[in-house]
Amino acid sequence: MPVKILMVCLGNICRSPLAEGILTSKLPNTFMVDSAGTGSWHLGHSPDKRSIAIAKKNGLCIDTQRSRQFKAADLDEFDYIYVMDNSNYRDVINLAKTPEHKNKVQLILNELFPDENVDVPDPYFGVPNGFDTVYQMLDEVTDIIAKKLIEKHP
Ligand code: 4NP
Repeated sequence: MPVKILMVCLGNICRSPLAEGILTSKLPNTFMVDSAGTGSWHLGHSPDKRSIAIAKKNGLCIDTQRSRQFKAADLDEFDYIYVMDNSNYRDVINLAKTPEHKNKVQLILNELFPDENVDVPDPYFGVPNGFDTVYQMLDEVTDIIAKKLIEKHP
């Protein structure tokens, strides 16, 4: 059975598809990485074209991903659940029924800045360089996550 990691944001079209693509590229195929959104506006949609573009610029193809909504069963199915911001954290934790579920959920940048509760900013409504910033943050933190996961599940 592969170790299963889920990346979660709001729309599952900007941040978590990038997080999925970047982490997948850093792990062997004994790991399975997926992503989901807490919202339902973009079900079945491809990633935002700006996420596709920044991924491509960095040698990654995320075009075939399709948006889906986070569901309570994901808390059973996945071993690690990384959320992009504090609002995603609240939404996911609200569906957690057991301490085991709660322990699976981590604010992703806490792996880089422990206990600081920093958000990966939502780039959807467009601040300049928003997607570059998100890519850099996710690239940096997934280095740490991949190293930890590989050490823990050799
Ligand atoms: P994401 O960005 O959560 O990084 O995928 C968003 C995409 C769409 C919306 C919000 C955030 N939206 O409101 O439609």
